[in-house]
Amino acid sequence: MLPSEPNVLVPAPAAKRFYGHGIPGIDLKELTGKLIVIEGADGSGRSTQIRRLVNWLETSGHGTVQVGLKRSSLISEELERAKEGNILCTTTLSLFYATDFADQMENIIIPALKSGRMVLADRYIYTLMVRDIVRGQEKNWVKNLYGLALAPDAVFYLNVPPEELIRRSFAKDQALDYWESGMDLGLSRDMFDSFLKYQDLIRNHFMQLQKEFGFQIIDGSRNEDEVYQTLKAQVTTVLSGNGNGTDHGYET
Ligand SMILES: Nc1ncnc2c1ncn2[C@@H]1O[C@H](COP(=O)(O)OP(=O)(O)OP(=O)(O)O)[C@@H](O)[C@H]1O
Ligand SMILES: [Mg+2]
Repeated sequence: MLPSEPNVLVPAPAAKRFYGHGIPGIDLKELTGKLIVIEGADGSGRSTQIRRLVNWLETSGHGTVQVGLKRSSLISEELERAKEGNILCTTTLSLFYATDFADQMENIIIPALKSGRMVLADRYIYTLMVRDIVRGQEKNWVKNLYGLALAPDAVFYLNVPPEELIRRSFAKDQALDYWESGMDLGLSRDMFDSFLKYQDLIRNHFMQLQKEFGFQIIDGSRNEDEVYQTLKAQVTTVLSGNGNGTDHGYET
């Protein structure tokens, strides 16, 4: 009789790499966990989907760790305060976010991967790069800055039309966010108009990065469960050692 199938999906190893210069002293072969990134605009459903994926992974026997922007213990509070004061120029804002990211890379992501855990990142360097580029930073400068990042095992971009994002934002908070509306860019004095223009800009730049970084574009406008089933199937593929990190193409 065949032994019954184990409940736990044992992650198959897949080679890790840094996008550029990386972080010194790290033996990439020791990083046995998987790094899974969910990207997407405000209200695209990232938190909702990560919550469900974490629940599923944990009940399947995987330890999980969550990271995201502005979550480093080193400078997240200072970054929040600096943004409130409107005292940052484009470069210092970039470097502030990069420091927040580097701190999490070094102190959370790498140790978690070393101990074989699944790291779920609520946004990653792509959002940071796109935000910097639309504010006038040189693309190569930004790419070089984030050369310290590990290439994830999979990146999913939840694609949701701006009108639906507005609907969700209002259903949740009854308001739009100043920064997510790109109000600092002076695209329009009207916040709705600015939001639509800014999200359009961001989305166009994401599509350009998609060609280069090959992440998977997921139709996030479907209902929560449909999106989750797609992601779950994709993450199962990642666990079997076939990440989408180097693939190109849209979800069909
Ligand atoms: N597929 C979906 N269809 C409709 N509404 C959704 C869907 N997914 C999430 N929502 C709702 O949209 C709102 C935003 O979802 P969520 O907080 O998961 O998004 P987010 O991308 O994490 O946003 P934020 O950038 O604000 O953190 C929530 O009220 C959530 O219940
Ligand atoms: Mg969220």
